[in-house]
Amino acid sequence: MRQLITPRVVAFVVGLLFALAALWALAKGVGPAFATFGQYGRFTEPMAESEFHKYPEKRDFSFNGPLGKWDTRQLQRGLKVYDEACAACHSLKFVSFRDLAALGLTEAQIKAYAAKKVVPGIDPVTGETTTRPGLPTDRFPSPFPNDIAARAANNNAIPPDLSLMTKARHDGTNYVAALLTGYRGQPAELVAKFPDAKTGPGLHYNPYYANLNIAMAPPLTSEGQVTFDDGTRATVPQMARDVAAFLTWTAEPQLVKRRQTGWAVMVFLLFATGLAYLSKQQIWSAVKPKKN
Ligand code: HEC
Repeated sequence: MRQLITPRVVAFVVGLLFALAALWALAKGVGPAFATFGQYGRFTEPMAESEFHKYPEKRDFSFNGPLGKWDTRQLQRGLKVYDEACAACHSLKFVSFRDLAALGLTEAQIKAYAAKKVVPGIDPVTGETTTRPGLPTDRFPSPFPNDIAARAANNNAIPPDLSLMTKARHDGTNYVAALLTGYRGQPAELVAKFPDAKTGPGLHYNPYYANLNIAMAPPLTSEGQVTFDDGTRATVPQMARDVAAFLTWTAEPQLVKRRQTGWAVMVFLLFATGLAYLSKQQIWSAVKPKKN
């Protein structure tokens, strides 16, 4: 009997147990449930989100693709849209005014732009907190002194900082453009099928938003809401695209440069590979017997 319990037998029994557990999990559907984690609604109850949520459509932007470039006129238009339609609620706390040089603004233009903004400061005599006109080195200020004030002014929702927003959302550039143009009436079939998902008071139906109901009222509502200096027609989709492009720049100002550096690095690596190959030939030519 003692000889029977050899390590080999123990290993076999343990293996068998694992195999049975795996079979049981398969039969019970535990495996698929884990495998589809994140695809909400497929193995759970149907929800309004799983049926009515929309992914943003792909849009063409000048900075798309490995050879993309910023369109500085578009970025300037986007800055204007941000200024006139978003800055009342959203901060851009990681962007300094002097960074706007990348959009083609001159030093004098940046100084004048900054001076029109009111930033928090300190009274040099009393040391008390006060406000002062902005300097090029200042960051874009927050429109609210703190989160409580932000909530109080926005139906209990905090408008998030937009500096990194296009990085914080999947397919962020397209998402912002789609979100801004995605407001519509809630479909009647949605309410009929999911009465609990009815858009609540102070919320707005937007199928691009993760839970379909966003606390932000549509910020871009009419053509000509912003007057573009370059004469571009300020339609709502145009303003949405431009501000999405601008927010892509704020989130990754080095995007175009990073890709250009990537190309230079690839060319260099190819060249270095060629050199390495040639020197290998050179070194081994003395050692290796020549094939006949
Ligand atoms: C009247 C205030 C207000 C204005 C103006 C405004 N927003 Fe918002 N925004 C909000 C609030 C509040 C939220 C938070 C929504 C929520 O939590 O449901 C928000 C959220 C967002 C989000 C985040 C959505 C997400 O996926 O979490 C983005 C992006 C956004 N706003 C972009 C903009 C842009 C771009 C503009 C200008 C064109 C703008 N907003 C103008 C109040 C505003």
